[in-house]
Amino acid sequence: MCAFLRGFALRGWLCGPQAQCPSPVRHSSGGPSWTQERTLVAVKPDGVQRRLVGDVIRRFERRGFKLVGMKMLQPPESILAEHYHDLRRKPFYPALIGYMSSGPVVAMVWEGHNVVHTSRVMIGDTDAAKAAPGTIRGDFSIHISRNVIHASDSVEGAQREIGLWFRSCELVDWPDRGPQSGVSPA
Ligand code: PPS
Repeated sequence: MCAFLRGFALRGWLCGPQAQCPSPVRHSSGGPSWTQERTLVAVKPDGVQRRLVGDVIRRFERRGFKLVGMKMLQPPESILAEHYHDLRRKPFYPALIGYMSSGPVVAMVWEGHNVVHTSRVMIGDTDAAKAAPGTIRGDFSIHISRNVIHASDSVEGAQREIGLWFRSCELVDWPDRGPQSGVSPA
């Protein structure tokens, strides 16, 4: 009985609309000293179907960025409508929403120096047909309508998108003791 109730409570905590966050874990030392940027990266439904999540994570980790949030979700239309609000009058908008609703998305928050700009370079041109080889889209996509991945296009956009896809308590501020910790720009 207790186990059942605990399981029920856990499911409610994880999935329910009234979901509560536990107290955040805070770490006060170990991170780089300069101001860090964060950006939203999302592996789109075609990327998940094609098992590209691991490759995306590997590329960001190898570059030296720090994963501070990640979740898989079937994005509700409310999030997508807000996320793509500026595109609502574009002719491709219905197809874009249909595509983004077609399966689970893996949303991530990556942190690091200049991560907004660098992640855009790493994912490549929005139009996959123009994306350079070596970029994520250039390696895995041939058409803009199935371009595998999203990354925020500005610092302000990243803040807005992170706030839309994640509650603050879903982001973990863990101490960075990796190879690039302590490195500060000249
Ligand atoms: S625009 O028209 O310049 O504002 O659009 P752009 O900045 O190039 O792209 C914005 C997002 O719209 C997606 N997009 C499309 N999806 C489906 N079909 C078509 N034809 C299409 N054209 C653009 C594009 O992938 C961008 O989404 P994100 O999630 O940011 O990659």
